[in-house]
Amino acid sequence: MIRSVVRGFGSSLPARVVTNQELESMVDTTDEWIVQRTGIRQRYLAGEGETTASLGEAAAREALDRAGLMIDDIDLIIVATSTPDNTFPATAVNIQHRLGMKHGVGFDLQAVCSGFVFALTTADAYIRTGLAKRVLVIGAETFSRILDWTDRTTCVLFGDGAGAIILEAVEGEGTIADRGVLTTKLRSDGSNKEKLYVDGGPSTTGTVGQLRMQGREVFKHAVGMITDVVEAAFEATGTTADDVDWLVPHQANIRIIDGSAKKLGIPLEKVVVTVDQHGNTSAASIPLALAVAAGDGRIKQGDLVLLEAMGGGFTWGAVLLRW
Ligand code: ACO
Repeated sequence: MIRSVVRGFGSSLPARVVTNQELESMVDTTDEWIVQRTGIRQRYLAGEGETTASLGEAAAREALDRAGLMIDDIDLIIVATSTPDNTFPATAVNIQHRLGMKHGVGFDLQAVCSGFVFALTTADAYIRTGLAKRVLVIGAETFSRILDWTDRTTCVLFGDGAGAIILEAVEGEGTIADRGVLTTKLRSDGSNKEKLYVDGGPSTTGTVGQLRMQGREVFKHAVGMITDVVEAAFEATGTTADDVDWLVPHQANIRIIDGSAKKLGIPLEKVVVTVDQHGNTSAASIPLALAVAAGDGRIKQGDLVLLEAMGGGFTWGAVLLRW
């Protein structure tokens, strides 16, 4: 059985760090409110010349270096983003060009904060069906560019950045002892659009628009959605929370992360948290967190890693993989 095994990882953050204290001078907020309600202490914001494609390219180059691969070794690039450089062409095609890739294919995938989980699932399907041998999966965002910087209820929550992993086809035994992606579970439901959306778009207003969120409403749905897909992933693989070495959740809010881990029965020592440093970077948050925890040696080869996310749409999903 072909498995999609992680061969390399990388990340990239903008140069500029913005602390909660700095935001106090921009909107009516306090460091204490932001830390208490969200766990966020700082975020990185893209400056001049830094875009979703430039951050994604830098993360991809790091992943290629770490994997010891050249861009010619990659068949497919999938970029999960809701903040593309242009409405079209796709950011993946832009990054393909920046990396000097003259063959193969790239496309974007849009599932907001669940984007990386959706992109991994798509990459895994390409690999398992033999359509691709090595896939570069990137989550890259510049949410700072779609925020309303006068709205304190949203602008304090988000940050910019990118993370990437390379998945490679490897023959496995077909058991959960295999390295690679073991199962993926995705869901979406469009009935709650008004709770989290961007109020513009090419086909409606002809503008980019700004992010609007009913935070408390999103919060109410989050833990239930996350635990549903994670439990489905456990059931599909015959695993339990006890088998998980690392939970790497989408980094939206420390209270959602803690609440989900508690409901799933995963101790907090096994949860990778970067929301304090990065804020919510949407589709970039999971690959950024993976790069931190694999980079500092916490996630090791053979570890069972659980990824989960929920976001605008609503979309939600989980991936269980052996590193
Ligand atoms: N600073 C100070 N006060 C604030 C701020 C701020 N930045 N923002 C809101 N407040 C005030 C509100 O005005 C409100 O005041 P009031 O009681 O006088 O009306 C009070 O704080 C409480 O507001 P709530 O919205 O009820 O606060 P809550 O505890 O729900 O926290 C938060 C808000 C952090 C947004 C939380 O609801 C949350 O994290 N929601 C989930 C967001 C999320 O996870 N999104 C993930 C998906 S993102 C994506 O897909 C793009």
